[in-house]
Amino acid sequence: MAKLFTTIIITITLISKHFFVVFPVVSGANAGLSRDLAALFSFSFSITNDPQGVLHSWSSPEIHTCNWTGVTCHPVKDRVVQLDLSGRDLEGVISPAVANLSFLAVLDLSGNFLSGRIPPEIGSLSRLKQLSLSSNLLVGAIPIELGFLRRLVYLDLGGNQLNHRIPESLFCSCSSLQYMDLSNNSLSGEIPLGNQCRLLDLRFLLLWSNNLVGPIPSSLANSTKLEWIDLESNYLSGELPSKIFDKTPFLQFLYLSYNNLTSHGGNSKLEPFFDSLVNCSRLQELELAGNSLGGEIPASIGSLSNLVQLHLEENFLYGPIPPNISNLVNLTYLNLSNNVLNGSIPPDISRLKKLERVYLSNNLLSGEIPVALGELPHLGLLDISGNMLSGSIPENFSNLTQLRRLMLHNNRLSGRLPPSLGNCVNLEILDLSYNQLTGRIPGDVAALSSLKLYFNLSNNFLEGSIPLELSKMDMILALDLSSNNFSGKIPPQLGSCIALEYLNFSSNALRGPLPRSIGGLPYLEVLDLSSNLLEGAMPESLKASSTLKLLNISYNNFSGIVPEEGVFALLTMDSFLGNPGLCGSISGMSECGTTSKRVHSMILPILVTLISTPCILCFCVYPLARKSRSRRSQLRPFFQRTVSVEDAEEGRQPDYPRISYQQLADATGEFSELNLIGSGRFGQVYKGTLPDETTRIAVKVLNPKTGVDISKSFKRECQVLKRTRHRNLIRIITTCSKPDFKALVLPLMPNGSLESHLYPLNAATGSGLSLVQLVNIASDIAEGIAYLHHYSPVRVIHCDLKPSNVLLDEDMTALVSDFGIARLMSGGADENNESIDSSSSCISTTGLLCGSVGYIAPEYGMGGQASMQGDVLERIQHRNLIRITGFKALVLPFMSNGSLESYLHPQAQQYSSAAQLRLLERSN
Ligand SMILES: *[C@@H]1O[C@H](CO)[C@@H](O)[C@H](O)[C@H]1NC(C)=O
Ligand SMILES: *[C@@H]1O[C@H](CO)[C@@H](O)[C@H](O)[C@H]1NC(C)=O
Ligand SMILES: *[C@@H]1O[C@H](CO)[C@@H](O)[C@H](O)[C@H]1NC(C)=O
Ligand SMILES: *[C@@H]1O[C@H](CO)[C@@H](O)[C@H](O)[C@H]1NC(C)=O
Ligand SMILES: *[C@@H]1O[C@H](CO)[C@@H](O)[C@H](O)[C@H]1NC(C)=O
Ligand SMILES: *[C@@H]1O[C@H](CO)[C@@H](O)[C@H](O)[C@H]1NC(C)=O
Ligand SMILES: *[C@@H]1O[C@H](CO)[C@@H](O)[C@H](O)[C@H]1NC(C)=O
Repeated sequence: MAKLFTTIIITITLISKHFFVVFPVVSGANAGLSRDLAALFSFSFSITNDPQGVLHSWSSPEIHTCNWTGVTCHPVKDRVVQLDLSGRDLEGVISPAVANLSFLAVLDLSGNFLSGRIPPEIGSLSRLKQLSLSSNLLVGAIPIELGFLRRLVYLDLGGNQLNHRIPESLFCSCSSLQYMDLSNNSLSGEIPLGNQCRLLDLRFLLLWSNNLVGPIPSSLANSTKLEWIDLESNYLSGELPSKIFDKTPFLQFLYLSYNNLTSHGGNSKLEPFFDSLVNCSRLQELELAGNSLGGEIPASIGSLSNLVQLHLEENFLYGPIPPNISNLVNLTYLNLSNNVLNGSIPPDISRLKKLERVYLSNNLLSGEIPVALGELPHLGLLDISGNMLSGSIPENFSNLTQLRRLMLHNNRLSGRLPPSLGNCVNLEILDLSYNQLTGRIPGDVAALSSLKLYFNLSNNFLEGSIPLELSKMDMILALDLSSNNFSGKIPPQLGSCIALEYLNFSSNALRGPLPRSIGGLPYLEVLDLSSNLLEGAMPESLKASSTLKLLNISYNNFSGIVPEEGVFALLTMDSFLGNPGLCGSISGMSECGTTSKRVHSMILPILVTLISTPCILCFCVYPLARKSRSRRSQLRPFFQRTVSVEDAEEGRQPDYPRISYQQLADATGEFSELNLIGSGRFGQVYKGTLPDETTRIAVKVLNPKTGVDISKSFKRECQVLKRTRHRNLIRIITTCSKPDFKALVLPLMPNGSLESHLYPLNAATGSGLSLVQLVNIASDIAEGIAYLHHYSPVRVIHCDLKPSNVLLDEDMTALVSDFGIARLMSGGADENNESIDSSSSCISTTGLLCGSVGYIAPEYGMGGQASMQGDVLERIQHRNLIRITGFKALVLPFMSNGSLESYLHPQAQQYSSAAQLRLLERSN
């Protein structure tokens, strides 16, 4: 017998292209193990790609089979009892030979790229307790033979492409099953649990996201140990069961959303279903959304006192919200949106002190917003939009300090905006549009600089001027004040809202010119100023904008020539209607005449062009007469957060020291090689001394020939440097920019870069950094990066953190530098589908690989999005920095900041591994 196997092994070795194996010739002493060896070998032969090299040990003659990666043997019988190759990225098919591992109790091949069908031979593994083939690319039907696995406790075939019906044998013969997960496949037909079949031990039944039809089988009532039922996203039909869940006292999670289920009494009574749940005292989550269920929400819902999440949205529930919903004191998530509920919001809802997210939108709720809602200490999201709520916004919403999203739009709210809303310092979205609000925008509300996504006040009766405080919203993406009665001028300070992509001031009574700072907003895509009383010429900055896609200035009093460049080349007459003073070449617009008016209107652009041509005078604004100032003030960041009115109106960069190309050339000895202190992909860095003989500078000259868009990189670095102020981040003194020359002027760091200390060119000088210095440096870097990630006005992802980008000043304080490829992030914590998609929150740097080779975070190499984790991963992976004691410990805590999303979308469907662990403990 053993001889036969040896022959087989040798044959296979000869034909194997993938594994060069010199197999140990197993003696006849253990025929069983040699049989296992043959099976494992056949198994490995059908694996075509093993990127992690996990099967290397399988081909090493020195390593005993029982010590191969993923293989576990019985301690006494010396037979393979477990094959666990989960999450190893293996490609290929599952060889039927695994069926010859006749002592196998655990077969876990989940999380690979295995394709083909599930071999029916697996059904002969009579000792198998756990079978996990989830998250692969398996196709075809589930083999009927799996029903022969009488001892099977745990079956997970989820996340494949399996189709056809579920074999009845699975439900009828695998009588030991505790965990069954067939979710996320394309299985069809009914759930095959006939009356004759019983799964007495079943605790987890996960069939979500398939194409299952028919009713929820009533014989599920025999499975009295059920804890977790997830049948979501199928086509199950029939009435909600009323005689199953009264027999499942251990039920914790019941997910029946997105099916075709109805309520009793011709889809009019939910009582029978809810009454059957009254003894499910452990029920935590109940999801019935998207079923077209009719009926009122029964009062008995109040008995589900352990409920944490309740999802009843997208049904046809009518009638009032029952007051005893306030018994659900453990509720954190309540979603009743998109129904036809009427009546008022029960004030007793304030008893639900744990509520974090409340969605009551798109119903017919009326009455006032209960003041009691302001007493929910953990409320993070309140969406009561799309109802008929009247009265004013309660003053005490100011108590909702955790509130991130407040959506009250499309109601009949009146009165003034309470200034106390300004206390909601975590707000990211504030949508009050389509109401009947009056009065001015209170300064405190306009100063809500936490707003990240949008601030929408459109379609109200608000008046007064646009508050200057809005300029503090420097993370906001969209600002909509349209269709109100706002008057006065557009404040130029709004140019500080640098993340803005969408700005709508249409249909108000705004006057005066359009400030050029608005056209200069770096990410602006949509600008709608139509139907106001604005006047004057189009600012040059609009023409120069590379991001603007949509501009509407119709029905104003704008005058002068409409340029043909930039966004203007894409626009039609619709954008300019009702401005009799405008002329230009756009079809339908009056040609610019030959009157003196035309000459006049051309002088300005020519002058502007002349002045802004930096070849003549290299952009230089501020005399070096100020050079006698102390070094400290020279290094002051030139961008002040609160721009003064005067500066902004003149469009001048405040506090911007003047320096010319010639002065830089003089300072660096005509950019002499002797002064070259560094060079990289983006250009060279020269040291120099300003004419005052005291200020030592580093001049970073960006290389125009790198092929990447240099002005983009320059602009980005300027933007980042302008917006950041931190002890551990390099600051900028000034910039010098002309078409063929762009340079940043930075303070010279006497101690050079961290790299020069870690890898000294002259080994004799040694690293010289003491452990204390290293720890301090690591801590400085962490502080700087944490600031960029979490506290700077615009979130910044550095993308290229490495020792050469860390500079050391005279007392060895580390400063992070080189933001040339940094990403500005406007949102950060936003990946859910209901908000702006994440791609819009990062600048695209086409053709630019993020990071430097050797320091690149793995996800960037795969074309992933820039992420904060990327910055940190880069550091951790770098062998020299991980050696700096304490570095990991210093960086990681900053990342553990739970994002809003992590608590808005907890757990999801990631329970299976936890469930698996628990099960294995028990079935031992
Ligand atoms: C497996 O490896 C361990 C440690 O590497 C060794 O002690 C043991 O003897 C090996 N077992 C067999 C069966 O070779
Ligand atoms: C399993 O072992 C038997 C011999 O016991 C052999 O005939 C058969 O081919 C093996 N099955 C597979 C799929 O390798
Ligand atoms: C199993 O459930 C079916 C349907 O509810 C029922 O007819 C049958 O009697 C149950 N069997 C047992 C043993 O409880
Ligand atoms: C709930 O439990 C009580 C007491 O254990 C019992 O009397 C009642 O019939 C049960 N209700 C349901 C619907 O099973
Ligand atoms: C689900 O129900 C709707 C209306 O009740 C019906 O139009 C639809 O065909 C049903 N879908 C399936 C797959 O049964
Ligand atoms: C809400 O804030 C007001 C003052 O702004 C305070 O008097 C009241 O006690 C707070 N209510 C709660 C429930 O914290
Ligand atoms: C308010 O404005 C934001 C940003 O433009 C938009 O996403 C949102 O849908 C608007 N709200 C309504 C009710 O239209």
